Amino acid sequence: MSSIEQRSTLTQFLIEERRRFPQARGDFNALILDVALACKAIAKSVAFGELGGLYGNHAEDQGGSINVQGETQKKLDVLSNQLFVRITEWGGHLAGMASEEMDTPYQIPTRFPRGKYLLVFDPLDGSSNIDVNVSVGSIFSILRHVGQSDPVTEQDFLQPGNQQVAAGYALYGPTTMLILSVGNGVSGFTLDPHLGEFMLTHPRLKVPEQSQEFAINASNSRFWEAPVKRYVDECLAGKTGPRGKDFNMRWIASMVAEAHRILMRGGVFLYPRDSKDPSKPGRLRLLYEANPIGFLMEQAGGRASTGQVPMLTVQPTGLHQRIGLVFGSKEEVERIERYHAEPVEWHDEHNPLFSERGLFRD
Ligand code: AHG
Ligand code: MN
Ligand code: MN
Repeated sequence: MSSIEQRSTLTQFLIEERRRFPQARGDFNALILDVALACKAIAKSVAFGELGGLYGNHAEDQGGSINVQGETQKKLDVLSNQLFVRITEWGGHLAGMASEEMDTPYQIPTRFPRGKYLLVFDPLDGSSNIDVNVSVGSIFSILRHVGQSDPVTEQDFLQPGNQQVAAGYALYGPTTMLILSVGNGVSGFTLDPHLGEFMLTHPRLKVPEQSQEFAINASNSRFWEAPVKRYVDECLAGKTGPRGKDFNMRWIASMVAEAHRILMRGGVFLYPRDSKDPSKPGRLRLLYEANPIGFLMEQAGGRASTGQVPMLTVQPTGLHQRIGLVFGSKEEVERIERYHAEPVEWHDEHNPLFSERGLFRD
């Protein structure tokens, strides 16, 4: 059992972290605690499932609602977005917000004081699976509001991932967890449902550098670029292939759950750029999916990349910009980057899965 005598709460952890910066005013900690409260409120709604009447699509009686991504919004997408907004907007820490579920930046109402941070979030990641009771989560990223603009503009949010002040996610699984980095490693907290407190259960998380587990949606294989095909093919070839070891494959279709597995035991996740829809350079979004998860991976000794360049160096060009994403164990991600950099000459008869009767022949 979690004992409050033996473990730090999230509040204690944040206060102890802040003591390292005597000039800090505490705004930042208060913001993280508000974000954590929003996550607890979402966890509660998610946990009620069908009983809460929150499954299914938003505004179904009016033909449903579509977000800026062109995706049908679930009731829980909309509610989770509202919870994030309402619980964080009043505190005086934020200059503005951006979310997967809001087309344009959210302005802090004038009745509240404005702060110096920007909050960017995916209120419910993996929500297309919510009705089948798969683990889902919330992802967030905190940036400084470097400009003086009032109201905030889209431009204010277009900062490379290495400018993030903090990033994290909450995972609504068998237990609710909060994974957080304030730029000094990665810490994992488990929600004690009786106390309503996140307790520090996983200090100093590290992603193992090597791994034998990969995650990719193989139904897209005919659209993959050659370096991705090569990587997956070599994994599938197992012991008898060039890697000389067997690999395991996972696909939850809930990135936050895949990121968590990788933080716990290593592995690599790929949602690469592909040729499925030329208007979409990847499936996942840079500002509220790739960057915060990338920040956590790098802070835990892993790596995050577009396949070509480190994710956190990418200069964003749009609030809802999509991008190819590869993250996880450092050596695997570096290998994938290497394959992207090498000339494509491997695609030959030595490669059983792309040969005449191969699995991934196109
Ligand atoms: P969201 O629910 O926030 O739109 O994100 C879903 C994402 C991500 O969680 C997951 O990895 C991916 O979509 C799954 O995509 P496929 O359905 O193509 O497998
Ligand atoms: Mn998402
Ligand atoms: Mn989402």
